[in-house]
Amino acid sequence: MKKSAPIGIFDSGIGGLTVAGAITRALPNEHTIYFGDTAHMPYGDKSPELIKRYSVQIADFLVSKGCKAIVIACNTASSLAYKEVVEHVGELIPVINVIEPVAEFVTQHYSDKKIGVIGTKGTIGSGIYPKKIKKLNKNANVTSLATPLLAPMIEEGFYNNNISRTIINSYLSKKNIVDADVVILACTHYPLIKKEIIQFYGKRAEVVDSSDVVAAYLEKALRENNLLSTAKTLGKHEFYVSDFTESFEKSTKAFFGEKIDLNEVYLGK
Ligand code: DGL
Repeated sequence: MKKSAPIGIFDSGIGGLTVAGAITRALPNEHTIYFGDTAHMPYGDKSPELIKRYSVQIADFLVSKGCKAIVIACNTASSLAYKEVVEHVGELIPVINVIEPVAEFVTQHYSDKKIGVIGTKGTIGSGIYPKKIKKLNKNANVTSLATPLLAPMIEEGFYNNNISRTIINSYLSKKNIVDADVVILACTHYPLIKKEIIQFYGKRAEVVDSSDVVAAYLEKALRENNLLSTAKTLGKHEFYVSDFTESFEKSTKAFFGEKIDLNEVYLGK
């Protein structure tokens, strides 16, 4: 595998762009190929079987595009389909999920704190965060809450307004999350509402998102596999969606500038 090959990144929609943005900041010379599965968004309410099927199809697509590594920039797919993606393409290229890096990070930095996790129904229902964190620290205090309206709300461009604030405040006021010391944003869409979440907690809680932590983890994995780009020029970025939406285009431009290369591709049922 060539060091100059692109990094494949995927999510159900715009959420993974928060991770892709962090990867581009940390590794500016790397090429990236982003896939947003907008036809099937939201992933959070789908069955594990469907998420597995979509994730494996996308992994095949990214491999067919010559990617040297895959970042599953989606907590729901990382929770429900990481194993299947690794079984499918892991012998060819490294596969990174967004959960392990964050579980390691909070264990290192906040081991004695009350940790709250918010994410989709799929992620929270899988119980993967408490499981991973408690494996690293058996005394960890972890509670979680599914916040299923947030990802579709953000995907539609509803953030930093009165509607989003009302929904966010209503979720965060719930009993098992309101008094957390550390809140994990266990959905890659949520960094887009991080400001509003910080406003809700004020100084009472630290808010942790996965983007920079995952970018650092990816850099380490690429270095260990001798796959870090040695290019001196800035990387190129290609974007694919399974269904063209204006909100996806708008968000991608907001992250990567006006001249983005956005393509629609059909991956099958
Ligand atoms: N951004 C995703 C996640 O991290 C998916 C949200 C969704 O499609 O429901 O879980």
